[in-house]
Amino acid sequence: MKEISDNSGKVIIRKAVQSDAKGLIEYLNIIGGESNFLTFGIGEFGGSIEEEEEFISNALNKENALFIVAEVNGNIVGNLNFSGGPRQRNAHVGEFGVSVLKEHCGKGIGEKLIKYLINWSKKSEIIRKINLRVRNDNTVGIYLYKKLGFLEEGVLKRDFLINGEFYDSLLMGLEIN
Ligand SMILES: CC(C)(COP(=O)(O)OP(=O)(O)OC[C@H]1O[C@@H](n2cnc3c(N)ncnc32)[C@H](O)[C@@H]1OP(=O)(O)O)[C@@H](O)C(=O)NCCC(=O)NCCS
Repeated sequence: MKEISDNSGKVIIRKAVQSDAKGLIEYLNIIGGESNFLTFGIGEFGGSIEEEEEFISNALNKENALFIVAEVNGNIVGNLNFSGGPRQRNAHVGEFGVSVLKEHCGKGIGEKLIKYLINWSKKSEIIRKINLRVRNDNTVGIYLYKKLGFLEEGVLKRDFLINGEFYDSLLMGLEIN
């Protein structure tokens, strides 16, 4: 069941549910046009509502996956998607992506989403490592990840190609014990 929003402007962090599918597609298409730090651009998130519903239900059913949203006044303003590996040897580790709508950035929502992931991982009894990759000129992202304990582990050269220009990514990770 979707939590009832109280219209107070309060940020609710919760797991995505199937009825979020339409709102999530709208959200992802907006965010793709707002940020060049993501792996998709404006209008590139072309999935159908049914596909998004299936994606959400897969995340809900997988023991080592987490798909959460930040909601303000009933609207999705941020999300985080984490998925662990499919086999016994890599089920303990996964990568996440996070985003927050521009007009809601700098209010602590990104931090809340990542802290939710870290707490969930600690309780999961499966997850032992959280990975991420971030464009190496994404100063806000890198600052936030370091603040939450993520360490730099390496660099992927030419990881993005945007408007003819290459960008490197920083690999970062947090061990969960
Ligand atoms: C990265 C992102 C998720 C952070 O979310 P957010 O809700 O803005 O983050 P928070 O408000 O929780 O924290 C941001 C921190 O950076 C600081 N910050 C915010 N804007 C800043 C800026 N322009 N320059 C420097 N620091 C900044 C904030 O003060 C805060 O630090 P503090 O808690 O010590 O004061 C968000 O900026 C975003 O969606 N960016 C576009 C997509 C993206 O980059 N995703 C990550 C790809 S790896």
